[in-house]
Amino acid sequence: MRIIRNVVQMHTLARRWQKAGRKVGFVPTMGYLHEGHASLMSQARKRVGTHGIVVVSIFVNPTQFAPTDDLTKYPRDLPGDTRLCRSRGVNVIFAPTDDSMYPKTGAGFSTFVEELQVSQGMEGSSRPTHFRGVTTVVAKLFNIVLPTVAVFGAKDFQQAAVIKKMVADLNFPVEILVSETVREPDGLAMSSRNSYLSPSGRRQASALHEAIESAKATVAGGKALNPESLANKLKQRIETQPDAQVDYIAFFDANTLRPAKRVKKGVHMALAVRVEKTRLIDNDQL
Ligand code: PAJ
Repeated sequence: MRIIRNVVQMHTLARRWQKAGRKVGFVPTMGYLHEGHASLMSQARKRVGTHGIVVVSIFVNPTQFAPTDDLTKYPRDLPGDTRLCRSRGVNVIFAPTDDSMYPKTGAGFSTFVEELQVSQGMEGSSRPTHFRGVTTVVAKLFNIVLPTVAVFGAKDFQQAAVIKKMVADLNFPVEILVSETVREPDGLAMSSRNSYLSPSGRRQASALHEAIESAKATVAGGKALNPESLANKLKQRIETQPDAQVDYIAFFDANTLRPAKRVKKGVHMALAVRVEKTRLIDNDQL
């Protein structure tokens, strides 16, 4: 396994693979890798086969964090990440420096990619500059790594939808796969940010998954419900936890991301909840 920290070196290698007709499976990440990320690596390997190349990028992308966000304290562990990637048969880790991705000297950096439809609402409302940072860095990474296929997690459902839209709108020759959410035994979706939680916060965090399960049980009987009243009921229930505060609970169509008029089986639910100081998200189809 190789670790590449240089953009030009990565691009040169990618062009060589492309010329040789080798399939490249790509998993973009911000590191502090866990089993959720590992499942994307397995999907990438499955898709490109043993003769293909699996590339994992590790880059804590500054443009997707707001000034008030947790950029500087975002957890990092390159030695641990390297071990996990090696154990999963990854061929190359691409871990560029901030300055090689966003030069501060010379001409600097002044071009952004922005999706204006599915990026609105939910995470887009709560974190207004977030998706512009995500689409910009993913477009850059696609241009550097030249993947045949890129794998994203359903855990960040809106992010995957925004990337799919960007790829379609801008004609990136990349296939996008979305891989299902990997969870802890109590249902909490795995996330690098779970490491911020205290033991008590960690226990309270299972309220996100419980809210989804409760919504599933409610619609299972075939009743169509009013989205606001169901959201309110779930919010109240989540906020019985002493350190949990709901940011949003949304019900929407999985393809268009448009809000659902009635909540029934098949509708998609997403929520964001602050537990202690950590903002957690989760989603699933009801
Ligand atoms: P990061 O949060 O590191 O996540 C990298 C990828 O792993 C994303 O596609 C995310 O959806 C997926 N992932 C995270 N937790 C998961 C889980 N529990 N189950 C399944 N997949 C999971 O998302 C980002 O980084 C960044 O925004 C990035 C796309 C790399 C752009 O900077």
